[in-house]
Amino acid sequence: MLEEFIIQGKTKLKGRIRINGAKNSVLKLLTACLLTDQPMTLLNVPHVSDVFSMLQLLEVLGSNAHFANDQINIVTPQIISETAPYEFVRKMRASIGVLGPLLARHKKAIVSLPGGCSLGARAVDIHLNSLTAMGADIHLENGYIHAKGDLKGATLNFHFPSMGATENVMMAATLAKGTTIIHNAAREPEIVDLANMLCQMGAQIQGQGTSTIEIQGVDQLKGTKYTTLSDRLETSTYAMAALITEGEIDLYNTKEEFLSDIKTYIKGAVIQNYGDYIKVSGKIEDVANITTAPFPGFPTDLQAPTMTLLTQAPGMSTIHEALFENRFTHVPELIRMGAKIEIKDRTAYIYGKTPLYGAPVMATDLRAGIALVLAGLVAQGETRIKRIYHIDRGYAHLVENLTACGADIKRAPQEADQIHAQG
Ligand code: EPU
Repeated sequence: MLEEFIIQGKTKLKGRIRINGAKNSVLKLLTACLLTDQPMTLLNVPHVSDVFSMLQLLEVLGSNAHFANDQINIVTPQIISETAPYEFVRKMRASIGVLGPLLARHKKAIVSLPGGCSLGARAVDIHLNSLTAMGADIHLENGYIHAKGDLKGATLNFHFPSMGATENVMMAATLAKGTTIIHNAAREPEIVDLANMLCQMGAQIQGQGTSTIEIQGVDQLKGTKYTTLSDRLETSTYAMAALITEGEIDLYNTKEEFLSDIKTYIKGAVIQNYGDYIKVSGKIEDVANITTAPFPGFPTDLQAPTMTLLTQAPGMSTIHEALFENRFTHVPELIRMGAKIEIKDRTAYIYGKTPLYGAPVMATDLRAGIALVLAGLVAQGETRIKRIYHIDRGYAHLVENLTACGADIKRAPQEADQIHAQG
């Protein structure tokens, strides 16, 4: 059954929120569990639909998993299928993260090509070229990547610091013969998290968090218990909820460094570190000019919610989206709520400060969806957000968290989608 969020806006949020484990970390930690036949335990796991999708895929491949509270116990005694079917990969692109582990442990993998998505073309050439350079025999057939062979170390120069490719290659290299060096590797905190867990499993990795990662292959990896890094994107999203409503939210189970982009770009944000929690208060007082970039640049995943916040800045702000060709689908929806935004090529011009008002709108992807939630919180009147299954992919306990801070938001069965205007 489809559901929608119904938000009555204009409440100043005040309260405390416990940040969940990072979706973009735990999805890769889960695929890394395929690298060993020993039991693994993951803690601080968020209850988001992408985690459930990943568990379903891993069960097809041979894992037995149990997920209760924020803990997953998972073991893969043997790989019973090397095929990641289209229906899983189509639903969740992170499924391509099983390619490296399957190939490393099982010497064979058949993984559906993810294809493009609502954000853009999203090539996988770096994944495939790197594994080929490591000795895999790869060909594409009927929409699937067929890979097989014994992996050996290689020196790789990525043409872009892709997160997914860095993760896939790092996992594959842990069990390859010899040393793999990745130049121009991704540096995101989630990469460091994955490398740290792999090291706890017995892998030999150095340089994680820098542009050059070196992995010395080992014969086997062992099971371990590991606590997932907290979600930096969720941390910033709730900070923006405090700022846009001119409220005050205490964020627990997170780190101050996750708010560095807000500190840099959002003048008027007050961020106070009280040790076990970070208090965010203040309001947006100035415009900003932002270009998204791989870490440590401004995250593309915060582009949409930041745009909502910038509708409340005094004057014209700009956001240039440099990572994805098509990540502005929230703009027409924000405009329907009263925002004044123009797009030229891959730059959005946001003219603030505009009052927002409630409207029926539609989430088109995860971060576009959360941008609409922020808009609903500050809008006059009622906002109904349809297709919230996108938001459920990455924000656990959203309604509970916002309600605890005084927001008026509820989940309800979605009224039927309107037929789109034709012609
Ligand atoms: N790219 C290539 N060739 C490749 C791989 C990537 O050209 O082989 C290009 C892509 O086309 C894209 C850019 O590199 O333009 C970035 O892609 P990357 O591989 O870094 O992204 P990803 O691993 O597919 C992860 C996150 C995304 C996040 C991006 C960028 C997960 C599960 N997904 O995707 O998160 O936007 O990194 O930071 O970790 C989200 O959480 O909403 C989300 C979309």
